[in-house]
Amino acid sequence: MDERTLRKALSDIPLGSLRAFKQTGSTNNMALAWATDGAPDLSIVYAEEQTSGRGRGDRRWFTRSGTALAFSIILRPLSGEELSVPLFSGMGAVAVCDALGRRGMHPEIKWPNDVLLNRRKVCGILAESVWIGENVDSVILGIGINVKAESVPLFERLNFPATSLEAETGKSEDRLSLFRDIIQALLFWRDLLTKEAFIHAWGNYLAFQGEQVEIQVKGEVSKTGKIEGLKANGSLILRSADETTFTVQFGEVHLRPVI
Ligand code: BTN
Repeated sequence: MDERTLRKALSDIPLGSLRAFKQTGSTNNMALAWATDGAPDLSIVYAEEQTSGRGRGDRRWFTRSGTALAFSIILRPLSGEELSVPLFSGMGAVAVCDALGRRGMHPEIKWPNDVLLNRRKVCGILAESVWIGENVDSVILGIGINVKAESVPLFERLNFPATSLEAETGKSEDRLSLFRDIIQALLFWRDLLTKEAFIHAWGNYLAFQGEQVEIQVKGEVSKTGKIEGLKANGSLILRSADETTFTVQFGEVHLRPVI
């Protein structure tokens, strides 16, 4: 998918600007540099292949040419949107789920923002912020989706089982139409982030609800609890064995089911 094709497909969507590459290191790196350089709100960096894609927690993210979707969208908090900034990464996951749901799939979100199909990870999201003093100048929402079966990296490189849309559905998905639907869903939810409808949608997609999970917050002892739902600010509510509830905020958090 080249820049011309992408521009044409997105021409009726009110985006900022678009840069598409056949190959790049990481679209998040390109977007971070572009944001610092004044990219307008809703600008997108897209790549057919990433040679040093990055995941959360300093992990690598693999994007083999033409097999996946890898893009980063630059969101500049608008006035009045400051409180919504922490919800941007959840918004990305909900937008991906909506687009997959439209195709008859049943995606779930491994909180805060991994998208699963049949309990295997099909999409990862890396949100990074550019700060100016005490204010967030922009958020880079990097989204990677394994579309074709060849996009899934070797098992030993992963810390959670991975899959692709093709492997789960047995069908080949049109990457361009999927990309377009995700962007449209992002724009839709962005206007509703402070509304109950958004947390409700995110909560409805939550994986492992009512199940026992282990939560590891960076630098803290891990905790276990049953997932109860989400707070209005996107924090996860869990119930521990002694029936007390506790919440976890996003950041460097790892969640895995207790088997
Ligand atoms: C994760 O699950 O660890 C997050 C993965 C995020 C991958 C995407 S692909 C597009 C963008 N560019 C990157 O280097 N990373 C993100």
